[in-house]
Amino acid sequence: MNTSDVQAQKRRYGIVGNSEGLNHAVDIALQVAKTELSVLITGESGVGKEVIPRIIHDNSLRKSKKYFAVNCGSIPEGTIDSELFGHEKGAFTGAVGEREGYFGAANGGTLFLDEVGELPLATQARLLRVLETGEYIRVGSSDVRKTDVRIVAATNVNMVQAIRDGRFREDLFYRLNTIPIKMPALRERGDDVVLLFKKFAMDTAEKYNMPDPVELTEAAQQRLKSYPWPGNVRQLKNVTEQISILSRERVITPEILSEYIPDTPVTRDIVPVNAPRKETHSFESERELLYKILFDLRNDVTELKKLVNERRGEHTAPVVSAEKVSGEQAVTYYPSKVPAYPVSSHTLKGDEDFQTPEEYVEESVSLDDLERQMIVKALEKNKGKRRKAAQELNISERTLYRKIKEYGLDKENL
Ligand SMILES: Nc1ncnc2c1ncn2[C@@H]1O[C@H](COP(=O)(O)OP(=O)(O)O)[C@@H](O)[C@H]1O
Ligand SMILES: [Mg+2]
Repeated sequence: MNTSDVQAQKRRYGIVGNSEGLNHAVDIALQVAKTELSVLITGESGVGKEVIPRIIHDNSLRKSKKYFAVNCGSIPEGTIDSELFGHEKGAFTGAVGEREGYFGAANGGTLFLDEVGELPLATQARLLRVLETGEYIRVGSSDVRKTDVRIVAATNVNMVQAIRDGRFREDLFYRLNTIPIKMPALRERGDDVVLLFKKFAMDTAEKYNMPDPVELTEAAQQRLKSYPWPGNVRQLKNVTEQISILSRERVITPEILSEYIPDTPVTRDIVPVNAPRKETHSFESERELLYKILFDLRNDVTELKKLVNERRGEHTAPVVSAEKVSGEQAVTYYPSKVPAYPVSSHTLKGDEDFQTPEEYVEESVSLDDLERQMIVKALEKNKGKRRKAAQELNISERTLYRKIKEYGLDKENL
């Protein structure tokens, strides 16, 4: 391994960590960059796969040509072929103009197919053909076109299982997997987790103009290292942001940490018999955190809906037109606050994500319930002290007063 090259790439892309597995992944990316081989990046969700294709493209002979990243999991099945391979005018209802498609647009460059395991079988067949022959056909056309695209793909699904289940073509898998790069899970990266915490704490402090970033005690560092991080770096980033923003204490102890991550033992190390049992506590704090997050999300959603409605009022056309959604890159949306356990990213799929009025009402009712419960809980916990309850709920006292009124809680003697 050329250590100094690897370090230089990590600096260039802001990659933090020094574990063997991470360095190895960056090293392989550098080694294969100058070849034309297909690369398949595997690893759990949130491990940081998306930087690898950038490293490959930027260090390849194609670096001055186009680079596209396509999230195969976020494009509706009905449009994915036309997104990737283009279509002719009138190929299907709504195809007013022609579309070049990523394989045409990326000619000479690199195409990153993220979440490739999500591709429908029919698209897999087209993809195999273009990989093997460089030929493809637009939807609604019979002309064979040529393209020269380097493919880097990524997946967090178990491909062996997907092949066994008949969801992924074995021949395509071998074609994509010429060079495999495995991004290790965060729990396998030892001290990296502490380095990453420091980086995210610094980033957050800077972003929000905080006087100083949060720090970890020695014991808290151990706790971070023994936690299994099912959502990997993405989860750690979210947790660090939450702590940075919500914690009044700036020196973080394991006790404070346990408010943000579940407290159950995670290593298979032998747990001393007289170790305090904390499971009940952990479930409590887990639930509370979840409530807190839902509460915040609810407020965000309300704001967003207001915004969308305002904008809908301004335009006659819908805000998110099909053209816009399918036109440029597929958009992946990660909520800013994600629960501290299995994290899945939400993906905007276009209009279908807009709810019907009935759905909206239903959701509002249950969210109202939830909000009410949270307020009651916060008031009870703080013995009716509204200022403290508001602080805990992360809303202004004024909003809390308003909500207490709205829910009639002032009449309930809380
Ligand atoms: N080693 C790392 N150093 C700094 N940030 C990282 C690292 N690995 C991942 N991240 C950040 O974590 C988040 C998730 O990474 P991403 O590449 O989207 O994961 P996935 O493997 O799910 O595609 C991103 O915000 C990314 O910038
Ligand atoms: Mg990803």
